[in-house]
Amino acid sequence: MTDIAPATAPAAAAPAPDAVAAPLALPLVDLARRRRSTRTFDATRDVPAELVLEVLEAGRWAPSGANAQPWEFLVVRDADMRTRIVELYLEQVRTKQRMEEIVWKQKITTGNVGFRHAPVLVLVLSDPRVARSFPVRTIREKGREHITSSMANATLLVHLAANDRGMATQWVSDVSSPYMSTVLKDWLGVPEHIDIYDMIPLGWPASTADPTPRRALAEIVHHDHYDPALERDSAALDDFLWTQTRLAAFGARARPAPTASPDPAPGDDRTPDGAGPDPTEQA
Ligand SMILES: Cc1cc2nc3c(=O)[nH]c(=O)nc-3n(C[C@H](O)[C@H](O)[C@H](O)COP(=O)(O)O)c2cc1C
Repeated sequence: MTDIAPATAPAAAAPAPDAVAAPLALPLVDLARRRRSTRTFDATRDVPAELVLEVLEAGRWAPSGANAQPWEFLVVRDADMRTRIVELYLEQVRTKQRMEEIVWKQKITTGNVGFRHAPVLVLVLSDPRVARSFPVRTIREKGREHITSSMANATLLVHLAANDRGMATQWVSDVSSPYMSTVLKDWLGVPEHIDIYDMIPLGWPASTADPTPRRALAEIVHHDHYDPALERDSAALDDFLWTQTRLAAFGARARPAPTASPDPAPGDDRTPDGAGPDPTEQA
């Protein structure tokens, strides 16, 4: 969609690209490199309320389609409610594992509840009604996608801000499933028209998260034209999936003999618990 700058925006002279990139680029790139999904939280250490607000402040400044700002944050500190959410998560994870056993002949999802000891659970809520601010064509073509992208921006900024303060965060996307979101809305009084987009457990790391691999820049950057040498055939794609992603616990899980593949993406974007087995959290 096209966002039109306000008429009053000052017309700045375009600076040379190097002048823009030099002073700021590295710290952000470093933070992007350092941020990790952490799935072990220190049960003995709380997060002060001001610090929670400080990291949510970063989310508030996320870019959104039409500046529609679909996000709201529900901060759960209550210990009983956090325990109920852990149990609800465990209850639904069994259906995921059963589906994986049918398709992959093994459980891929570990059933670990990484966030079991997180002192704060932030539910990231979305109000899709704000899509009415989009151009009519955008609403009809991709209103939902724009809401999702905007939510992703805010969520990522919260993760980055928390990691910047040395805190631990995890992505818990199962909360948006029909089952979990219906139950959570009931427990927490979230109106029906508000979606639960994601959950960010916030706390302090109990251990250092293992680094996760990334594709090399040389494999993903095309110059001027799509480089056919970079196009992945299905064998190369399979190698990638079974070395770098959660399918193979980032290379630690054995690759099974080929079987019928599950349906391809878009479901793939909902990456569940990617961590390797953690005996302390094993369900
Ligand atoms: C859309 C999305 C959904 C995700 N869902 C989960 C999840 O449900 N549980 C989880 O533990 N991690 C989840 N993750 C985290 C990814 O597994 C993680 O970002 C990825 O493995 C790379 O690891 P890193 O975050 O440590 O760099 C999700 C990440 C994204 C962006």
